[in-house]
Amino acid sequence: MTRYAHITGWGTALPEHVLTNHDLEQMVDTSDEWIVSRTGIRERRIASPDQTTASLAADAALAALEHAGVKPSGVDLIIVATSSPEHTFPATACIVQDIIGASKAGAFDLSAACTGFIFALNMAAQAIRTGSIDTAVVIGAETLSRIVNWQDRNTCILFGDGAGAFVLQGSEEPGGVLEAVMHADGSGADVLSLPAGGSKIPTSADTVAHGLHYVHMDGRPVFRFATRVMAEATREVVEKAGLTLDDIAIIVPHQANYRILEVAARGLKMPMAKFMVNLDKYGNTSTASIPIAAVEAAEKGRLRKGDKVVMVGFGGGLTYGALLAEWTGPFEDKPPVKPERIRLLARLRSAGKRARRKILNLPVGDEKLGG
Ligand code: UT7
Repeated sequence: MTRYAHITGWGTALPEHVLTNHDLEQMVDTSDEWIVSRTGIRERRIASPDQTTASLAADAALAALEHAGVKPSGVDLIIVATSSPEHTFPATACIVQDIIGASKAGAFDLSAACTGFIFALNMAAQAIRTGSIDTAVVIGAETLSRIVNWQDRNTCILFGDGAGAFVLQGSEEPGGVLEAVMHADGSGADVLSLPAGGSKIPTSADTVAHGLHYVHMDGRPVFRFATRVMAEATREVVEKAGLTLDDIAIIVPHQANYRILEVAARGLKMPMAKFMVNLDKYGNTSTASIPIAAVEAAEKGRLRKGDKVVMVGFGGGLTYGALLAEWTGPFEDKPPVKPERIRLLARLRSAGKRARRKILNLPVGDEKLGG
């Protein structure tokens, strides 16, 4: 029997604090006009001191699981794609596994910069299609604000924090993840990197003094690369699936720069209206940008059951890739999880057991409350 990997639940976690371009004008030599005209970004979210990559990832995962109607104990695999992990090791995914109580799940991180979510979704889908596992949670999560140099106007205006998660479930019903292409060009590794803290340049007082623990980017080559590969990878995945661009209802691209998306749209001879764009509100959230944009598209009714969607990304590595899916939705009809509910899940997650009982208005006793 052929097995298919369906996207049956989704959720996001977006910090409440909004940093606008006008706020940035007070921090570095920039202007709202420059940022909007060169990138399309107007504001981004910044994690509060108690939020981390793992906590945002866990909040998004819990919302996605609730939407899918799957209990954490039913998850076989958690993959976190991230460029700003909780630690070099252990994997952020292991911390998420513990927070959400996914007691039987394997968990690992995937490092492919902004393309990471595409690669992770493809890996999880392949594991489901081969019958190796049945249920996976794939998360893109970032706290880029922690690794950005807030005095470097070339980079700090671009990035934001957030997380997005999909639940993937196996079924014999055709649909779900249909095809994917994954590519890398490591000759461009140095144009976008976090130079220190690894085996090549271990952290030292000197690396900190020289700011080598921050993101370094040469924007122009990344821009040129992005404008070439987005259309290329989209065409490749569509052809590999035996479809044409006319079959595609919507493109959910990595949200880096509006001008990059315009070039990709021209290259594909597709109207911008077919591209989901929300980078004006969240900036570039790296691995999280594609799931955050896909969730918004689904919630706004732009991505409906049965629609063919191409998710396409590029980023440090250099990496790029695209994934074509037929959008499924929960196996049983369920509305998206409301923002108030996501906030409640987050409060429950971070509260101690006594505080959880209070939030739930339960009598505070010594009874056990499951995670
Ligand atoms: O997820 C993947 C991550 N990376 C990307 O997607 C980045 C891809 N690259 C880009 O999006 C663009 O290259 C940027 C938005 C980063 C930069 O736009 P650009 O049109 O390539 O600008 P530029 O780097 O060529 O700089 C043009 C000018 C320079 O001044 P001079 O040398 O012409 O006097 C910069 O110093 O703009 C200056 N500049 C700024 N001015 C005001 C650079 N950053 C800023 C700023 N505010 N924030």
